[in-house]
Amino acid sequence: MKIVRAKDYYDMSRKAANIISAQIIMKPDCVLGLATGSTPIGTYEQLVEWYKKGDLDFSSVTTINLDEYRGVTKEDPHSYYYFMREKLFSQVNIDLSRTYIPDGMDDDAQHACRFYEEIISRCGGIDLQLLGLGHNGHIGFNEPGTAFEARTHLVNLTEATRKANQRFFADDENVPRQAYTMGIKSIMQAKKIVVVVSGKDKAEALCAAVQGEITPNVQASVLQLHNDVTIVADQEACSLLEV
Ligand code: GLP
Repeated sequence: MKIVRAKDYYDMSRKAANIISAQIIMKPDCVLGLATGSTPIGTYEQLVEWYKKGDLDFSSVTTINLDEYRGVTKEDPHSYYYFMREKLFSQVNIDLSRTYIPDGMDDDAQHACRFYEEIISRCGGIDLQLLGLGHNGHIGFNEPGTAFEARTHLVNLTEATRKANQRFFADDENVPRQAYTMGIKSIMQAKKIVVVVSGKDKAEALCAAVQGEITPNVQASVLQLHNDVTIVADQEACSLLEV
């Protein structure tokens, strides 16, 4: 595991965007695994800026997102589909037919999950997976206790996760109770993984993930077993790490 220490959120975003840019430049038809949440927003902003300057070309890139709320339409501003379109897809020259996000409106969970796994393998696997980190150590929507063997599956969101995401919704009742997420097994098959972490409130989760025991209770701790993980974290997020 490599830990890249950034000064602040802006520096973290630029460093992560640099790694993703290198991937796109080295392999223009790469498959990027993408994440939502507030942490990667600055990374996407930086990628858009470099695209607008003419330094990046997304025309052959494929993207596969980690997760989506269940029962939320693509047009709903709370959907991860909407988020991705707004923050990245509508601002670069990506071919929308090569952007994949679990279908939150597919009621048939078995079908939705199997179909998504088929997409991942049809695309030839993920070259670079971008991840954020939940306060309880989750990645994607893989909640504490989930078997590391899980592939894409339906999740009942914990109250802690619903609370953490409540800031995006009008009130608590509107926060979805379920989501589809790529499982740890699907994530761990990515060739390269980049995790962005920012803020003091993530320091404990980051410490548990990189220096703690490898346990399903801290889903991100499994990343210690992957052979190409880069964690880009700002000073506050690193505050509890041993030097
Ligand atoms: C959600 C997402 C995760 C994300 C996490 C942290 O639960 N499903 O993919 O990493 O939130 O989000 P944030 O970056 O906003 O703290």
